[in-house]
Amino acid sequence: MVTGASAGIGRAIAMELASRGAGVVVNARRRERLEELTGAIRAAHEGARVEVAAGDCAEQATIDSMLDTARRAFGREADLVVVNAGRGLSGSVMTSDTSQWEEMVRTNLLGAARLMRSAGERMLADLEAAKADGGKSGGGKGKPAWLARPHDIITLGSVVGRHVSPFSSMYGSTKFGVHGLAEGQRRELGGRGIRVTVIEPGFVVSEFQQVAGYDPAWFEERVAAIGPMLEPGDIARAVGFVASQPAHVHVSDVLVRPTRQEYP
Ligand SMILES: NC(=O)c1ccc[n+]([C@@H]2O[C@H](COP(=O)([O-])OP(=O)(O)OC[C@H]3O[C@@H](n4cnc5c(N)ncnc54)[C@H](OP(=O)(O)O)[C@@H]3O)[C@@H](O)[C@H]2O)c1
Repeated sequence: MVTGASAGIGRAIAMELASRGAGVVVNARRRERLEELTGAIRAAHEGARVEVAAGDCAEQATIDSMLDTARRAFGREADLVVVNAGRGLSGSVMTSDTSQWEEMVRTNLLGAARLMRSAGERMLADLEAAKADGGKSGGGKGKPAWLARPHDIITLGSVVGRHVSPFSSMYGSTKFGVHGLAEGQRRELGGRGIRVTVIEPGFVVSEFQQVAGYDPAWFEERVAAIGPMLEPGDIARAVGFVASQPAHVHVSDVLVRPTRQEYP
């Protein structure tokens, strides 16, 4: 399951997972974009299984509906949930547009926490059920259910959620929060076989810059100074790498920068 799949990194992650044979549920608010994506996935990968669960993923009702869609379509709980939807905001505590603060915190932090909690609850129930039926629903031959089939919650943090950046410190603070949620949940669920990961991209060219309100001239200067910037597919490959590790291996934190990005 991938949130924020109508554009940028989320779209690329959905394509990447489908190319690896995963059944995928895609979420975002723009349904028509998701319909276009399902067409593109099916055209690229014959027999691909992809479902749309549109809506605001900071709402608990949408989260429940996404997870229900996965269970209905694939016959079991989602075992790979990518908490990707989010938005940027140009500026610092002093300079950013205060009218955007609440929506950003609601989407990036509270929405992420709600989804992480719901996904974690369902994964735990899934693992318990597999244990109860002797590992059959886990697909394992005598292995514990968590070892037979990995369960992943993969969050999108940011390099500015690790290093404070004055040009986006208000946004960065939400990503510091996401890193905290992910590490906290990793400690809580790792012992029960669920891997909670944070992927920390540097500059990725997507709709992010426009939504965040970056000055295009400033961004062009950054591109000239440190480009080429990352593309969404560069992050999608990192997600594919994490998710394809054997269940006893957890690559829990991946920072991906454009090679020439010196700071932050
Ligand atoms: N681009 C970068 O440089 C960069 C760097 C570090 C981290 N990140 C993080 O990577 C993630 C993806 O960013 P991106 O670069 O791909 O940005 P993007 O191109 O703007 O895509 C953002 C996606 O999130 C969706 N979205 C936003 N709010 C939503 C909501 N309330 N409910 C459901 N979907 C929502 C948008 O779809 P709809 O508008 O259709 O809902 C869109 O699909 C974000 O968490 C971002 O913070 C990006």
